[in-house]
Amino acid sequence: MRPRSLLLFLAWAIPYAAHAETGAEAWLRYERVADPAALQRYHELPSRIVQLGENPIATNAAVELARGLSGELGLQTQQATTYGTEDAFVLGTPAELTNLLPGESQRQLPPEGFRIARERMGKHTLWIIEGGTPPAELFAVFRLLEKIATLNPQLESTEAPSAPVRWVNQWDNPDGSIERGYAGRSIFFDASHVRSDLTRAAEYARLLASVGINGCTVNNVNSDLRTLTPEMLHEFARIADAFRPWGVRLSLSVDLSSPQVVGHLPTFDPLDPTVATWWQKKVEEIYTLIPDFGGFVVKADSEGRAGPSQYGRTPSQAANVLARALQPHHGVVLYRGFVYNHHLDWQDLKADRARAGYDNFASLDGTFEPNVIIQVKHGPIDFQIREPVSPLFAALQHTSQAIEVQTTQEYTGQQRHMVFLIPMWKTALDTDLRAQNRSTPVKEIVTGKSFHQPLGGFVSVVNVGLDANWLHHPMAMANLYGFGRLAWNPDLTSEQIINEWTRLTFGNNPKVVDTVNHLQLDSWKVYEQYTGPLGIGTLTDIIGVHYGPGIESAERNGWGQWLRADHNGAGMDRTVATGTGFIGQYPPELARVYESLTTCPDELLLFMHHVHYTHELHTGKTVIQHIYDSHYEGAATAATYAPRWESLHGLVDNQRFGETLKLFQYQAGHAMVWRDAVSEWFFHLSGIPDAQGRVGHHSNRIEAEAITSTGYTVTDVHPWETASGGKAVICKGPEPCILTTKLNFPAGQYDIAVQYFDLRGGVSHYDLLLNDKPIAHWAADDTLPPAVNDRNLDGHTSTRFTAPSVTLAPGDTLTLRGTPGGDEAAPVDYIEITPVTKETPKP
Ligand code: GCU
Repeated sequence: MRPRSLLLFLAWAIPYAAHAETGAEAWLRYERVADPAALQRYHELPSRIVQLGENPIATNAAVELARGLSGELGLQTQQATTYGTEDAFVLGTPAELTNLLPGESQRQLPPEGFRIARERMGKHTLWIIEGGTPPAELFAVFRLLEKIATLNPQLESTEAPSAPVRWVNQWDNPDGSIERGYAGRSIFFDASHVRSDLTRAAEYARLLASVGINGCTVNNVNSDLRTLTPEMLHEFARIADAFRPWGVRLSLSVDLSSPQVVGHLPTFDPLDPTVATWWQKKVEEIYTLIPDFGGFVVKADSEGRAGPSQYGRTPSQAANVLARALQPHHGVVLYRGFVYNHHLDWQDLKADRARAGYDNFASLDGTFEPNVIIQVKHGPIDFQIREPVSPLFAALQHTSQAIEVQTTQEYTGQQRHMVFLIPMWKTALDTDLRAQNRSTPVKEIVTGKSFHQPLGGFVSVVNVGLDANWLHHPMAMANLYGFGRLAWNPDLTSEQIINEWTRLTFGNNPKVVDTVNHLQLDSWKVYEQYTGPLGIGTLTDIIGVHYGPGIESAERNGWGQWLRADHNGAGMDRTVATGTGFIGQYPPELARVYESLTTCPDELLLFMHHVHYTHELHTGKTVIQHIYDSHYEGAATAATYAPRWESLHGLVDNQRFGETLKLFQYQAGHAMVWRDAVSEWFFHLSGIPDAQGRVGHHSNRIEAEAITSTGYTVTDVHPWETASGGKAVICKGPEPCILTTKLNFPAGQYDIAVQYFDLRGGVSHYDLLLNDKPIAHWAADDTLPPAVNDRNLDGHTSTRFTAPSVTLAPGDTLTLRGTPGGDEAAPVDYIEITPVTKETPKP
């Protein structure tokens, strides 16, 4: 074949082979629509775009429309600012459209609502893109482009967001680090300053606007004490300038001690008049620099932050001072309900961190200024894999509230595990608290329907970083997309949201859509299965990095995330009858459901009750057998992710295909680390064997410490449950160390897995040889989450490499050579040799 025809052939045969995408475009890829029926349908769309309003947001809306239509339909458009007589898209507010469409200015469109409508004007067709305000024109354009990309036949729609507050919080620090950030350094800050290049900040605002998010708090809730200095405010103003053309308002996390620290007053007592005046002047200074400033987020009296309790004042006394300063400028205060004592007495069986939100805020209901919103984490503890909703939602009936969720996967695998969180958030939003003995689901409380509080909404901690694809795991972006969509309309289903996201992110190929949707939809349940089931908590290292298993870290300290596990049973007794009384904070109908073992749902059992391991669940299984089974089931399902994804080879571009595959392979191995750590730990404590004989019995496993070795020495691993048999081997180097073992497996095909530890301090190299012939080589430089910077062999660093389908015969000799690198001593836990079965992956 001649080179040119060869190229054409290749392009046709392997659609994505030469194609690489970084993920930077996220769901705004504007891929060309290929479906003939859809093309036919969209054929009539006009190629003229008339932008009636003169402001940067409306201009961005028109430019975005042109960009999207060009990408999706190959339509080359012309832009105009007045309407002539032709087919056209016309963008404007009701007032701007009034000359063209008589009666338009009377149209009731909420400020952030929009209308996409096809109308006839004489012989011509107008596509009206009307927004209550210019940001709503932008929302409309993004919605229209999303509908075209997902082949939706119904382009017309009229929509309005469910609530006014739809914000993201970034926990970025001035030095460029991000607290609980897992995708690189800050897009806003570096070396104590706002970055000079804010291109990514503007791109982030565009992404946020595309799903209807209207606010971004750019700095950590553990706010740097210099945040409110004049110098920093000038710098923040530059971020606000980058956000403004996308209709995203900047807000700041502030520390309540600022009047003292920044203002040099002798006090920050909220009731001191000089303090109130300081806040008022500071807010005026901010609004001269940032006229559309959104407001303040406040973390006070929590985890070491300063707060009003220092002066014997309440959260409402503190919040109201800030609120009064912001009120003339239409700013708001989001005062966080996350106030608790992290020095609880673990020996006190009545002590309970879950009670804190309600205990600190419920009695203050009705005392807050109207522009104060209490920002409440969805669960009463802290973003665990399963929690009931916070009872505070039902208690604040005269105060606006926003629900806080976490897109950054602090307790849910730190974007190294795929966990689609929308079903979790939906579970919280759909929980009917039955306040006043009537239907009051959380979503209706935060959107103001239940108690007529007009200012609430939705906040998510997101923590995107400089990684090209924003959140590191290509699949994690579904959570940011879904957050925006849910905040806009909490009645959307998880299925609708993922279906939109997958199509926008990977295209409309039915096989791709079906595979990705299924993978994502089950992933929360799967992660729960192999981490902390039955509401016990995530079971991670809670005083460390919150990533891998670290079960006992939750016990016997002041943080109050206790499992209360002993030889007989586990779980926190939060009943009114015998426990901490937490359940009594719920309205009576729901409290009754949780209080009784007969009606308490299994998935919250150990959150609400302390029970024996032999207690029978509603499924008929005992608690202990459920723990074993769910861990084995969850890890087995996680192991299907990579082969299911591999079935999409050639249907997804190379780069995202490869990145995702690598992460799925890693997740499969780490899910086993979780499975083994949790199962062995409960077996050890309870002494009750697994009815299926798996826990503690690993017939295909060869412990490294039991293999003949040259150079390796045995070491204890802490906590013990994070290594098989509690031990591993390390090579002190500098020469390589060797493990050699004679195999006696029947002839056949086997997967050979090596469980090792991947530390941050260096890069070891491993070689696997069969009868002295090399069969695999790898370097221990996997992308662990940035928080995992310890140099320990533990549940965070335990990692698995698998050499697939190796042909073995009895008497073969297997050799593992470990070469240390830097501070990493080529550690090995065990080798596991599993026969290859011809099972097809689960759908
Ligand atoms: C969690 C998290 C902290 C964070 C805190 C908060 O405890 O681990 O890093 O500061 O939540 O939400 O304020």
